Amino acid sequence: MGQPVEVRVLPSALYREALLFRSRTEPKYGESHMNDWKPESWTARTALHQPTYPDQEQLSEAIGELAQLPPLVTSSEIESLKAELAQAAVGERFLLQGGDCAESFAECASSVITNKLKILLQMSLVLVQGTQRRVIRVGRFAGQYAKPRSTEDETRDGVALPSYFGDIVNRPAFDERSRRPDPWRMMRGYERSALTLNFIRALIDGGFADLHHPEYWELDFVKHSPRAKEYYETVRKIGESVRFMETLTGISVADLSRVNFYTSHEGLLLPYEQAMTRQVPRRNGWYNLSTHFPWIGMRTAGLDDAHVEFFRGIRNPIAVKIGPSIEPAMLPEFVSRIVDALHPDDEPGRLTFIHRYGASKVAEHLPALIKAVQATGRTVLMVCDPMHGNTRNTASGIKTRSFEDILHELENSISIHAECGSHLGGVHFELTGDNVTECTGGARGLTDDDLQDGYRSLVDPRLNYEQALEMAMLIANRLVPSS
Ligand code: PEP
Ligand code: CO
Repeated sequence: MGQPVEVRVLPSALYREALLFRSRTEPKYGESHMNDWKPESWTARTALHQPTYPDQEQLSEAIGELAQLPPLVTSSEIESLKAELAQAAVGERFLLQGGDCAESFAECASSVITNKLKILLQMSLVLVQGTQRRVIRVGRFAGQYAKPRSTEDETRDGVALPSYFGDIVNRPAFDERSRRPDPWRMMRGYERSALTLNFIRALIDGGFADLHHPEYWELDFVKHSPRAKEYYETVRKIGESVRFMETLTGISVADLSRVNFYTSHEGLLLPYEQAMTRQVPRRNGWYNLSTHFPWIGMRTAGLDDAHVEFFRGIRNPIAVKIGPSIEPAMLPEFVSRIVDALHPDDEPGRLTFIHRYGASKVAEHLPALIKAVQATGRTVLMVCDPMHGNTRNTASGIKTRSFEDILHELENSISIHAECGSHLGGVHFELTGDNVTECTGGARGLTDDDLQDGYRSLVDPRLNYEQALEMAMLIANRLVPSS
């Protein structure tokens, strides 16, 4: 009769041992400070840049329905990205993040999505060539629908209506019906994100980009540049590397082109982000499954406010935009407190700072930010957004940015990081794969007067296909590893 007892005891002992082993080796990230957090904890704090929904009942109903729907991304994808970002933070990879300032429901269209993937992929190959590092591609897509606004209302000819907060909240047309915040637009935003992601996943699985022929990239504009020879050379080298890789590995580039694209958006509209935040079997804590990599915008990074409260509880890798509104003298305290709130365990890949100072301010502010981060003793991935600090209005009132200012901020950032014993780990652009005219400059030398030809952005001006590819080529040269 002793035998059966032994048989029962042995597996359970092993099981206990396995549990012990697991708890010894599995890091406890996201557990220690989480007892007091729930997806809705943010509602007790001040939430800036949120629309006022006239019908609260409809709002609860919409959130309730969203919370039942399947997630847009999975926790394992999120964890893979976190691991890749951890490598970028120590200089082993480079982050390329880009896409629209604001996606619109109307532009959830095949060519727009394909062109955006194409430009991001081409830029990433140029950056791989230059940096000799693997590049992480993250789109500002499949959910970049909510925008912070400087005023809750907009007044035209004496009429005040709610500001346009992005397609996930209301519509841009200036009439009462369009501007009324409608909670069911969150459902439309979720669906548009799902449609976009579905198409992106299918394109990637199908090996959408033919990497064999970079010489077919649309490079006509390059002829206008004094650097034409250099650009053609870069592209020739990429073609060579692709063929070399195939010969060497015996793996067809159709397989190699099954590269990862991750998604990101500003996690601004908290009711939506809350509804998409879930617990996942066999994982600790909560994941925001609306996107892989949400960020906190510069205007909503108040330490005691709702966004920091919400973000501290999710397990995703997260980013915070940091701009000149935080004076250098305030940075040590701000950085140490935000790092304590969002990055208490120094979990690899968890936290990214996206600095966006502008070409004229980066030299004054960035060294102080870098020192403040170094003083925390924790690892933070440092990325530059050279767009949002460089916005200006033309004489006729069009919002634009100049290619030269964007490049200048990036070049300065690269050298300042190096001088301060840090490194620039990535770049964040507003761009499109289409031939718009929203930013001035670049090889074609777009002027203020050219902007009206193809200005489509509803919010901020984006680099077009040519400008984005040229920008990648210029900065790739500067990012060549020093050793
Ligand atoms: C944005 O990324 O579109 C944006 C609003 O940026 P920031 O928060 O840096 O101003
Ligand atoms: Co923007």
